[in-house]
Amino acid sequence: MTDQPWWRCAAFYQIYVRSFQDSNGDGIGDLEGIRSRLPYLQALGVDALWLTPFYPSPQVDHGYDVADYTDVDPLFGTLTDFDELVADAHERGIKVTIDIVPNHTSDQHPWFRNAIADASHPDRKRYMFRPGRNGGPPNGWTSAFGGPAWTLDERTGEYYLHFFTREQPDLDWHHASVQESFDEILRFWLDRGVDGFRIDVAHALFKDQDLPEMVEPTPRRPFGDWLSALMQPELHPLYRRWRRIADEYSGDRMYVSEITVENQDTIASYVASDQLHLSFDFTLLHEQWDAAKMRVTIDRVLTTLGVAGAPATWVFENHDVTRLPTRYGGGELGRRRARAVALLLFGLPGAAFAYQGQELGLEEIDVPDDKREDPIFHRTGGARKGRDGCRVPLPWTTEPPTFGFSAGEPWLPMPEDLGLLSVEEQERDPDSTLSLFRSALRLRPRHDRFAWRDSPRGTMIFDRGDLTCLVNVDASELELPDGELLLASEPGITTTLPPNTAAWVRKGTT
Ligand code: GLC
Ligand code: CA
Repeated sequence: MTDQPWWRCAAFYQIYVRSFQDSNGDGIGDLEGIRSRLPYLQALGVDALWLTPFYPSPQVDHGYDVADYTDVDPLFGTLTDFDELVADAHERGIKVTIDIVPNHTSDQHPWFRNAIADASHPDRKRYMFRPGRNGGPPNGWTSAFGGPAWTLDERTGEYYLHFFTREQPDLDWHHASVQESFDEILRFWLDRGVDGFRIDVAHALFKDQDLPEMVEPTPRRPFGDWLSALMQPELHPLYRRWRRIADEYSGDRMYVSEITVENQDTIASYVASDQLHLSFDFTLLHEQWDAAKMRVTIDRVLTTLGVAGAPATWVFENHDVTRLPTRYGGGELGRRRARAVALLLFGLPGAAFAYQGQELGLEEIDVPDDKREDPIFHRTGGARKGRDGCRVPLPWTTEPPTFGFSAGEPWLPMPEDLGLLSVEEQERDPDSTLSLFRSALRLRPRHDRFAWRDSPRGTMIFDRGDLTCLVNVDASELELPDGELLLASEPGITTTLPPNTAAWVRKGTT
């Protein structure tokens, strides 16, 4: 158990860098801000951080449009700040993983600028420039952020591909120099001591070179299984190559991929001892608050990945989805369910991912339309609200208007009552969501053992060695088994669990 690599059962904490802590009053979170909050993260008890992109970027997609893969945007600090952050985190026993964005660059990346300025420049081949068809784009592919996935390069009459905004041109991974450049980029950060990478849209890098049409199901699904021209077989040798690079370093460096598909066999195919270490699985994240459905989903994750010999990953929130309490009904009901989920998330075997603010039980915030920043909102003419509501800066203190986040004006507005959920407020309340997270992170089992127990309809019960995790989703009530009640998601629980709660019980020793 102790000699297994750290990532197999790690609790990861996702930091959305812009919104975590601002250190210089410009209203935007930064690396120095994160460093100043390491004591908080250590007290919370997380094993590893995942930092969203902090690279030089025009910030069209808030950093997921990278203009230089081997530097820090002055908005967030310097490489020295980064090194200090990694060193201090390591001193506190916290690993640091970073986001790598290989599917596309910014249109301000020198490679793309060269490609646009001169069609004969070798960098042109790094991108997907293709001739149009019948006076229009090469095919009917659409961008994940709305509109066509192709933009005309007027000077040459060719189109370039972008699965996200037009300012995020897709790289052509069939081109050797792209692969070679990323080898160097990975090594650059591994040399600086990062413990791993979260690979952005990891399933999308290679496209079927015949550019076949793809039909998006209606209504829109949160999963991308229909994107058949992506997920090409070439991904496997690429990830083997990346694995060999990580394995050159000591300290169990790792990759976790963002693969937004529903088919777990597809996900599992990338996770292997010679490919990626972990992959997000979003099926539970998109599941309803329904015990039978959740149990089936959990089973599918465990069996599919178990066959591949890989640990499962559990995710209920990130910077792309509506906050959990809001998804689960909002208000008091959503809050109770989200607290119960904390015991499920940290009770399941494998790697758990929590998103900043989840430990505070933050709800989705209704950002006024004129303050919205997400390109999804703007590029769909407001038809899709976008992701700003889960990206509002964290409230650290009870002090309005910025609650300790910044000495200036935050980049997204913070509601007046946000202080009620602040770290300061919750730290002094032993029954707060923050206190619950801290206890769960301290007590969570760190081994692979897992077994379901039969349980009444509307509930889930499973054993993790001598610990039993019980979740009452919507049964009238659920009796707790004999043993020591280690943790309950609501105060006042002693012998039975009401609906929308969860508990951990340690079996008696007799
Ligand atoms: C991933 C990121 C998302 C980003 C997109 C494009 O899905 O999580 O935030 O907008 O990739 O890079
Ligand atoms: Ca700042």
